[in-house]
Amino acid sequence: MAETLAEAVSRRRTFAIIAHPDAGKTTLTEKLLLFGGAIQLAGEVKAKKDRIQTRSDWMKIERERGISVVTSVMTFEYADKVFNILDTPGHEDFADDTYRTLTAVDAAIMVIDAAKGIEPRTLKLFEVCRMRDIPIITFINKMDRESRDIFEILDEVEEKLALDTAPITWPIGRSKSFCGSYQLATNKVRGPDSEEAVTVNGPQAVADRLPENERAAFVDEVELAREACRPFDRQAFLEGHMTPVFFGSALRNFGVRDLINALADFAPPPRDQVADIRTVHAAEEKMTAFVFKIQANMDPNHRDRIAFARICSGKLERGMKARLARTGKQLGLTAPQFFFASQRHIADTAFAGDVVGIPNHGTLRIGDTLTEGENLVFQGVPNFSPEILRRVRLEDAMKAKKLKEALQQMAEEGVVQLFSPEDGSPAIVGVVGALQLDVLKERLSAEYSLPVSFEMSRFSVCRWVSCDDKAELEKFVTVKRGDIARDLDGDPVFLAQDSFSLRYESERYPAIKMAAIKEYH
Ligand code: G4P
Repeated sequence: MAETLAEAVSRRRTFAIIAHPDAGKTTLTEKLLLFGGAIQLAGEVKAKKDRIQTRSDWMKIERERGISVVTSVMTFEYADKVFNILDTPGHEDFADDTYRTLTAVDAAIMVIDAAKGIEPRTLKLFEVCRMRDIPIITFINKMDRESRDIFEILDEVEEKLALDTAPITWPIGRSKSFCGSYQLATNKVRGPDSEEAVTVNGPQAVADRLPENERAAFVDEVELAREACRPFDRQAFLEGHMTPVFFGSALRNFGVRDLINALADFAPPPRDQVADIRTVHAAEEKMTAFVFKIQANMDPNHRDRIAFARICSGKLERGMKARLARTGKQLGLTAPQFFFASQRHIADTAFAGDVVGIPNHGTLRIGDTLTEGENLVFQGVPNFSPEILRRVRLEDAMKAKKLKEALQQMAEEGVVQLFSPEDGSPAIVGVVGALQLDVLKERLSAEYSLPVSFEMSRFSVCRWVSCDDKAELEKFVTVKRGDIARDLDGDPVFLAQDSFSLRYESERYPAIKMAAIKEYH
C-alpha cells in the first residue's frame, strides 16, 4: 500500500551535529553516513574537510563548491527512517550560517571530547538550540583516549548547560582498554559497530574483557550510574530539558550504531513551525517551506544559486508551483534537488522534514517562505548584528553600479550584510567574522572582476530599530539621518560609533527598540 503523507512525514529525522572544532564532528558525520549506507568508504567526507583546513585553501574550496555539496545536507535511510543531516560550518567566523541552519533541524547531536568536556563553542551552539528547545542527544567521543572522569563530565553538562543527563550506555573500559558500550537499562553490550548488541547477565559478565585492575571499578560504576543517574524521560528530552548520553569513539566505530538507533527511536519527527498567522503542522496536506541557506555557484558552468529550503509541511512535488511570500509571486519548482553524500539528484517528491535545493537565479533569499498559496510567513530565521562594519573601496570607480549589484547579490546569499546609509553615502558591509570579508573580496574578484579593498567605517556597532509608535520611529530616523542605514529589506538600522554611544542614544530614546538580532520575515 502506498505510504500516506502522515507516515512519510513521521519517518523523517532532521538533525545537525554541534561541536567545538576537533571534537570529532566530521568523523562522526562520516561514520553515520557509512553505517547508514550513504557512502562506501571512510575518508570521503574527511578528505573534503582536510581541504578546507587552512585559511588560504578556503577560497579555493568556496569556488569549488560545485562538488562540495557535502557541506550542506546529506540524506540516508536506515531502520525505515529517512535521516537528513544538516552540516554547519566549523569556523566560528561563519557562525551566522550555523545559527540559521539550526533553525531548520528538529534535533541535534552534541559531540563532546571526553578529555575536554564542554568547550566554548559547544556552549554557544547549545544556547542557540535551547532558544528553540531543540532536543539534544549527547555523544561523548574519543573514549579510546585518555578521558576525564565520566561522572565529572555528566556533572559538567548538567551545570554548564542546565540540562539533565540520562546515560543510556556506559563505556566498557577507558582509553586502551575501551572495548564497547554497556546499555544500562537493558544489559546489552555492543563492541565495535559492526557487531549486534548482545544481552548479558549484568556488568560482571563483561568485566573479564577488561584488564584485571579495571574490572571491579567498571562493575561499581555501572551500579552507581544506575542508582545515581536519572532514567531517560522522552518527554523531558523532547522538551529540551534532558539529554540521553552515549559513549564511543567515532574514529574506531564505537557507539555510532547506538547513536543512529537513538536518533531513529527518540528523536522527534518534523516539528510544528510557527508562522506569523498560525502554527503549521508537519502532516498538513499543503506544502510549506522556508529558505535557510543560499549557496552560489554550485555548478561552476552556470551562474546558479541553490536555495536550501526546509519543508515544514506537506509534500513537495517536482513541477509544482509555490507562492513566494515576500513578493506574492508564483515560483515553478521544476528541478528541486536532493543531496546525497557526494551527488545531487532531482527530487520528484520530498516531505516535511526534508531539505531540498531549489536552483534559482536570485529569486530566493534567506528567510523566504514558500507555500501552496496561503499567505503566511515563517518566523525565526535570525539575522545577527554584525561585529565588523566596513566600507567597500572600489579600485575602478567606473564600476560602482556593478559593485552595487554584486553586493546586493552577496547579501541575498547571506555572505555579508549590506546597509545603505540614508544620507546616500557608499554602502557599508557587515560581517560576523573577518573570514567572511575574505570570502567577499575573493568572490567579487573571481566572479565579478571587481577588485576591492575594505576601509574602516566610522561606525562599529549596528542595531535594528523599531518602535510601537510609527511616528516616533520616523522622527528618530529623520533626526538621526546621518547614522541610519537600510538593510536589504529596507528596514532601518542605527549605526553607532561604539557601544558607549549606542548606550547613550538608547537612553536618550527609550521608546526606540534597538535589537541585535533580527528575524527574517
Ligand atoms: P571536527 O570535525 O569536530 O573538527 O573533528 P574531526 O572529526 O576532524 O576530528 C578531529 C581529530 O580528532 C581528528 O584527528 C580525528 O581523527 C580525531 N578523532 C575523531 N574522533 C576520534 C575518536 O573517537 N578517537 C580518537 N582517538 N580520535 C578521534 P586529526 O589528527 O586532527 O586528523 P587526522 O589526521 O586523524 O585526520
